[in-house]
Amino acid sequence: MALSAMADEVGSVGGGNGVPDRNGKPVQQPNSVLGPDRGGIVEDLPFYHEPVLKREVLAALKPGFGKQFLDGTTGGGGHSELLLTAGAHVIGCDQDEEALAYATARLGRFGDQFLPVPANFADMEQVFEEIGVDRVDGILLDIGVSSHQLDEARRGFSFSKDGPLDMRMNQSAGQTAADLVNEEDEEELGRIFREYGEERSWRKAARAIVSARKKEKIETTKQLSEVIGSVIPKTSARNPATKIFQGLRIAVNDELGRLEEALEKSADYLLADGVLAVITFHSLEDRIVKQFLRRTSQPYIDRPEWPEPKLNPDYRFNLPSRKAIQPSEEEIEGNPRARSAKLRVGVRIGDQ
Ligand SMILES: C[S@@+](CC[C@H](N)C(=O)[O-])C[C@H]1O[C@@H](n2cnc3c(N)ncnc32)[C@H](O)[C@@H]1O
Repeated sequence: MALSAMADEVGSVGGGNGVPDRNGKPVQQPNSVLGPDRGGIVEDLPFYHEPVLKREVLAALKPGFGKQFLDGTTGGGGHSELLLTAGAHVIGCDQDEEALAYATARLGRFGDQFLPVPANFADMEQVFEEIGVDRVDGILLDIGVSSHQLDEARRGFSFSKDGPLDMRMNQSAGQTAADLVNEEDEEELGRIFREYGEERSWRKAARAIVSARKKEKIETTKQLSEVIGSVIPKTSARNPATKIFQGLRIAVNDELGRLEEALEKSADYLLADGVLAVITFHSLEDRIVKQFLRRTSQPYIDRPEWPEPKLNPDYRFNLPSRKAIQPSEEEIEGNPRARSAKLRVGVRIGDQ
């Protein structure tokens, strides 16, 4: 489906069908957004997601009037709201149409400063082409699932709530977790649990699933948790299904592949001094971002067999810091889900 048609299905904000221009109306609520997230000032909206590292994201992206950003993971709209409140225009992208509908309602007061676009951020070239924007001042990716997705049993992400074994962020496309669990062979299931779940008992889990599904199709989160619980012992630290669910979620949504694609494309859509800011929640994702920024931030590359260093053809970013930015103790206390968040930032160099 064309992005514009998908946008129509989700609905646009305040008649804001057009490309956000650089002369939007100032919106004065500078102090309303750094406290706990209550779904913005639209009071009848339920809680959706508490955005992490708010101050740090603002410090990295430096939003302001006349600036334009791609929020590739709009979710409940918390980070988008920060940028909008600072006067910037935001192209708000999410592959979950439920998320975008929520963010659209929440951010309606910003009119055409906010442009919701239902899309996968890895398809950013289509997004930019369809809305006619060449480059932006910043791209934010806040990877992973939202609290809403995790907490809604019917989305199938949670082993602690019974629901259909779905786990698709984009509910209108692709295979569900139930499809994988019932159709993939033991070897492939084992690979998913080993590589994406980093589960030590991946072999046992895959074998138990293949044996259980011969008796009865595995269609719910409860069924899958029980199968896993029968072969991986519960510890006080975590539920035995934790890593199995993580692995399946990553596979269902091709999370690592889509992240890699987006990172590779990002530099083409950033202005000079434009900022790429990526928040991750586990080491598999963080490693991808860290290695990408390392490879693209070295002006020269050297190999022992070369007589001298050569210009790095992938050089695109300068790094304000090589270290990831992590939440303060205070933030973690208020929002335990922020515990494993890491923010990495690259600043686009001018074209050479
Ligand atoms: C952690 S939440 C983002 C929360 C958001 N920053 C906020 O302040 O509410 C991640 C969101 O990104 C979306 N998402 C994850 N991967 C995506 C992708 N490849 N393309 C588009 N959206 C994606 C999910 O559907 C989810 O809504």
